Amino acid sequence: MATGHIPDAHELTITEPVSSQFEKIPVQVFGQAIDASKEIARRIADRIHFRAAKDENCVLGLATGSTPVSVYAELVRMHREDGLSFKNVVTFNLDEYFPMQPNELQSYVRFMHEHLFDHIDILPENINIPDGTLAKADVPEFCAKYETKIELLGGIDIQILGIGRTGHIGFNEPGSSKTSSTRLITLDRVTRSDAAGDFFGEENVPRRAITMGVGSILSASEIYIIAYGEHKAQIVAEAVEGEISPMVSASFLQEHPHCRFMLDISAAQGLTRFRCPWLVEQVEWTDLLTRKAVIWLARLLDKPILKLTEKDYNEEGLQDLLAEHGPAYDINVQVFRHLQRTITGWPAGKPADLKQPGDVSRPHDDIFPK
Ligand code: F6R
Repeated sequence: MATGHIPDAHELTITEPVSSQFEKIPVQVFGQAIDASKEIARRIADRIHFRAAKDENCVLGLATGSTPVSVYAELVRMHREDGLSFKNVVTFNLDEYFPMQPNELQSYVRFMHEHLFDHIDILPENINIPDGTLAKADVPEFCAKYETKIELLGGIDIQILGIGRTGHIGFNEPGSSKTSSTRLITLDRVTRSDAAGDFFGEENVPRRAITMGVGSILSASEIYIIAYGEHKAQIVAEAVEGEISPMVSASFLQEHPHCRFMLDISAAQGLTRFRCPWLVEQVEWTDLLTRKAVIWLARLLDKPILKLTEKDYNEEGLQDLLAEHGPAYDINVQVFRHLQRTITGWPAGKPADLKQPGDVSRPHDDIFPK
């Protein structure tokens, strides 16, 4: 099997420009996580076929954690039902806890076998996962060899990533440099707390892990970073729209020419095009969107809704709302009234027998002209 192939740009599938002026990495949003996972699996399968047709190895960089499970399930399905072969595939996993025995419940070796390797025809010698059983003194040499092995194979064709709440990719916690390579790291407190469930208590989570570096990840030809669920929305927005910073390792992906975020709709909610769509495109000012915009403006300027001025609307990109439904006073009152009506002394609803005929508005409605 030939190795060492360096891909040409035309072989890469990620070429589209970013989706809004705020997004510095292309983002593809799917209604359901499973559709994103199927799309990623399809792209991986295409690359495997492409390489196989040229009698070349396909090198995959793989992640563990809950996010890629459905990608692996789809690859297994493709192997069983569509005859996708992994005979020409070489894999490199991003990370492993340290220390960690491969048969332990939380081991990434075990995870990968359970979710993927035991169900496909990959050659065992083509599987590479950082070794959590090493003596600490042997780790640096192991890491250097891991990097060299990837390079000798021509680099990673497709790298799959998840993102941690700290913004980590692999286990590159805040503070990791852009050029970092495979190494032993100390896990962040947030990461250890997120892993507590898997280890039956935070105190059992290892303090260290071996991880490929940010630099190792950025060397991949093509990268798919996946995030599903509302709990990822904020960190995704920071990585996609924020400044590049070592405090959010995933933000370094902004500098990669062929990287794409694959999100379900919940994980996309922190992006400006969902949070404040009026800043990105022409919108239809429904009552709901008007309320969302006015509450956003009041929070942004830290002002009561009834004190928002024409100037506030104009300066913060809400000119179109003014043009459609202005003046500002009318919009403020409309939104304020709505909010006022949501405040009730009867949180479970006023019992029917206590309702007066026409009992629909709030006591102070009459201070504003209709
Ligand atoms: C795992 C890895 C981590 C995870 C991240 C998200 O190999 O490198 O960066 O991708 O912590 O984990 P989940 O998918 O469990 O939310």
